[in-house]
Amino acid sequence: MDKFVIHGGRKLNGSVKISGSKNGSLPVLFSTLLSDGPVHLSNIPTELRDIRLSLEILQSLGAEYQIHPDGSVMLEVTDSASTTADYEQVSKMRASICCLGPLLARRGEARVSLPGGCSIGDRPVELHTRGMEALGAEVRIESGYVVAKAPRLRGNTVYLSGPMGPTVLGTQNVMMAAAGAEGVTVIEGAACEPEVQATAGFLRAIGIVVEGDGTPVIRIEGHGRLGGDSCLAGCDYEIPPDRIETGTYLLAGAIAGGEVVVEGCRPSENSALLDLLERIGVPVEVGESTLTVRGVESVTPVDIAMLPYPAFPTDLQGPLMALMCLGRGVSLITDKVFPDRFNHLSELRRFGARIRKEGPSAIIEGGAPLSGATVMASDLRASACLVLAGLVAEGRTEVTRIYHLERGYERMEQKLGQLGADVEKMDEKIDEREMA
Ligand code: EPZ
Repeated sequence: MDKFVIHGGRKLNGSVKISGSKNGSLPVLFSTLLSDGPVHLSNIPTELRDIRLSLEILQSLGAEYQIHPDGSVMLEVTDSASTTADYEQVSKMRASICCLGPLLARRGEARVSLPGGCSIGDRPVELHTRGMEALGAEVRIESGYVVAKAPRLRGNTVYLSGPMGPTVLGTQNVMMAAAGAEGVTVIEGAACEPEVQATAGFLRAIGIVVEGDGTPVIRIEGHGRLGGDSCLAGCDYEIPPDRIETGTYLLAGAIAGGEVVVEGCRPSENSALLDLLERIGVPVEVGESTLTVRGVESVTPVDIAMLPYPAFPTDLQGPLMALMCLGRGVSLITDKVFPDRFNHLSELRRFGARIRKEGPSAIIEGGAPLSGATVMASDLRASACLVLAGLVAEGRTEVTRIYHLERGYERMEQKLGQLGADVEKMDEKIDEREMA
């Protein structure tokens, strides 16, 4: 396994290019199961582990793909026989549950392993299955699999919000199933995240009428059972930039800048973060597709909650927590989407941070000097939190199990290195002090 070795205290300066969106890519990749023609997806972050795993799952479901050097992917479904996404693959990545909708829409049945445990908290799928049942599918859980049959899907109106609010992947899963239903489906209580709009854009590109994406009410005109004479063409489609990577590098610039220019992003998708940075005293200049942030020595404390879009995203909760360690007082960060998403707290304390968890909140007493430490990544965004803390901590930091990070951030050590950070990726078995 690999680790990052970081020597903190270096100022970041320069510009960083944002990659295509991981969470904007995954559902679109599974949506390609709906189409009968060749699909060309550009700006896919093909180096990410989750993207590679999704392509393997699609291959097991009868799709052939080629990855081009320019980061685009060609896919075409050549065999529509298989309807099972197996445990071995699905258990590694929750987004694989999004096989369910397209398999039902295109092949009339699906057997998809339940995604399994997750280090950020409980992640049930009952909203996904409820949505499929609303469209006429018979769904049962059997031996750890969601087993669903739907000779015919019928459009319906379905309310899809749950006890923790809307579901991002659940909304997209039902949109894909609705594409193969007869009649109109209206999803009420839909997630409004930009990634939902990316999937809607793809469905429109292959000929499905989708309206209202980005709002809590989405309307999909079903094409009827897909396949045979009800074919959906292929398309060319560009994946949008990654809004969470954008926020992560903005926060990196805030905690360790100099001046960092985040390029190729969509500022309007990060309004909640931009508002917060302004409130805590981090200067940011907003351009058409760039954001320029200047580093600060300390920030004004904040009381903030993570909520569904357009509120502050839970995926930036960890990276924000690293910055709030520079607070001139006590901050409160409450994650109302994933109340247990705090694996990074104990690791931040190893840097010397003064943080306590109180239910769904973390209480951060800012101002303690951070000193480099050996810390362990536990999930994708917690890893980013620890890297950001390492950038500003005095001395040497090791972040182990960096494979978590590589699920969602392309070449982070290179991107940070180009900004002037001292970050090296090494095999965990090697201690560079032995190499001296
Ligand atoms: C998506 O996960 C993202 N993943 C997550 O990003 C992100 O944190 C999350 O949305 C929230 O924004 C992808 O898009 C691949 P949810 P998703 O269903 O759709 C509860 C990252 O780091 N819920 O919107 O799985 C759930 O437990 C990842 O890139 C139910 O109760 O999240 C949570 O509390 C991590 N029943 C809340 O809803 C359900 O059937 C929101 O979850 C489904 C969800």
